[in-house]
Amino acid sequence: MAHSLSLTVNGTAVSMKVDVRTLLVQLLRDELRLTGTHVGCDTSQCGACTVHVDGEAIKACAVLAVQAEGREVLTVEGLAAGDTLHPMQEAFREHHGLQCGFCTPGMILAGMDMVRRHGHALDEHTVRVELEGNICRCTGYHNIVRAIIAGVRSMGPAAPGIAAAE
Ligand code: FES
Ligand code: FES
Repeated sequence: MAHSLSLTVNGTAVSMKVDVRTLLVQLLRDELRLTGTHVGCDTSQCGACTVHVDGEAIKACAVLAVQAEGREVLTVEGLAAGDTLHPMQEAFREHHGLQCGFCTPGMILAGMDMVRRHGHALDEHTVRVELEGNICRCTGYHNIVRAIIAGVRSMGPAAPGIAAAE
C-alpha cells in the first residue's frame, strides 16, 4: 500500500509516495540515493545505518520510512558545509578513525549523538560503552574512540546535531 510521505532530509523538504513497508534506510539509499548510509546487517546489530531523526541517533534499518513522517532526518551527506568537514568528520580524518570506511558514517553520527546525551566532557569508558551498537571490522576501535572524544570536544554549539546538548 502506498503512503504519501513528507519529511526533511539534510535540510531539504522531501515528499513522495512510498510503500508502507519501506524501511527508512531503503528510502535514503534507494529512493534518495544517499548511499553514505550503509547496510551491514539489516538486523539492528552493526550500526552502519545510523542516522539522526530529530537529532537522535537511530538505526535506519530498524524503522519504517513512514515513521519519519514530518520529522528531520540527518545523514552523513548533510554534515559537511561545502568543503569544510563537520568537526566530527574532521576528527575521524585527523585521528585515523577509519580504514575501509564502511562503519564510519554510522560511527560519526553515533559520536555526535553522544554530545546530546552526555555533553562535551566524554571520557573513554563512556564512548566505549556507547559504541556497543556500532561494529567495526577493521580498526580495533582505539582510533575511533580517540576520534570521537576529539570530535565531541571540538563540536561547537552551532554544529548540526548539537542543539539539545549541555
Ligand atoms: Fe542497520 Fe546493521 S544495517 S544496524
Ligand atoms: Fe572498516 Fe570500520 S573502518 S568496518
